[in-house]
Amino acid sequence: MFPKAILLALVGAATTVIAAPTFNDKGLLQFALNLEHLETAFFNGGLSKYSTSDFVGAGYPDWVRGRFRQIADNEAAHVSYLADELGDDAPKACTYDFGYTDVKSFVKLAQKIESVGASSYLGLARHINDTTILNAGAAIAAAESRQAGWITSSVLKNQPWDGPFETPLPPSAAWSLIRGYITDCPDSNPDLPLLNLPSLKVSDSTPKAGQTITLTVTLKSAKTPLYAVWIDGLTYTYTVITNGKTVVPTGLSGTAYVGVVSSKDHPDRDNFVTGFAVVDFPFGSTARHVA
Ligand SMILES: *[C@@H]1O[C@H](CO)[C@@H](O)[C@H](O)[C@H]1NC(C)=O
Repeated sequence: MFPKAILLALVGAATTVIAAPTFNDKGLLQFALNLEHLETAFFNGGLSKYSTSDFVGAGYPDWVRGRFRQIADNEAAHVSYLADELGDDAPKACTYDFGYTDVKSFVKLAQKIESVGASSYLGLARHINDTTILNAGAAIAAAESRQAGWITSSVLKNQPWDGPFETPLPPSAAWSLIRGYITDCPDSNPDLPLLNLPSLKVSDSTPKAGQTITLTVTLKSAKTPLYAVWIDGLTYTYTVITNGKTVVPTGLSGTAYVGVVSSKDHPDRDNFVTGFAVVDFPFGSTARHVA
């Protein structure tokens, strides 16, 4: 059989038909609440597992855990806000499997989850009609960005920001990153107006410009040619995929995202082929970034 890694390159010409649900403000808010439930469970779970001395033992200053407590409380406040907005239509928390094994892997995943959180809200902004919801979403996005920046810079000693623009993630792309941590949801939870895209793995999640990386996904069929789309700030860069491999473009910095699309159009339901993966291009918090 063909190794999974190259399945992407061996797909035939048959068209993959995926249902394309229409966005609506309520469905997008329900997505946001799913995200906040996940973030709250993630931070509360890590904090109930690891004490201040565990954080200190892992090499972090003693105030780091207290700040994570504040983040957990912020996430819980986002849950309350969105649940109030949605009333009877509010989805409930699911069960999750985050897979971290120690304080260090918890902190690393915290940075990723907060970045995806901020990017999710920014991606929703493109679609939300109600300006009050939009305003609240922007306020939450800014809070999550600060939290991500604090973790990246003060805790992980990398860059405090990723560049002049934060990175919006299209809603189904964001959902593909979040869904992987969800093990089970209450049956009563509403269906979201999002695609369930197949999950994408990259052979190196901190690659360098010019490096060839392998994209792994299991697809039954898809159109060709296929492109990797790299989203960084408001910039979309497309690279051709050949035999499941693509070359990392130049100019990416900080946390960015990559997914597979069937055309060089703005990534959305019309050209999504896979879910997205996080790729990091860290640069030191005290040094000027030279690409
Ligand atoms: C926004 O309004 C337009 C026009 O009424 C509608 O087609 C679209 O689905 C709405 N989007 C959301 C996210 O509700």
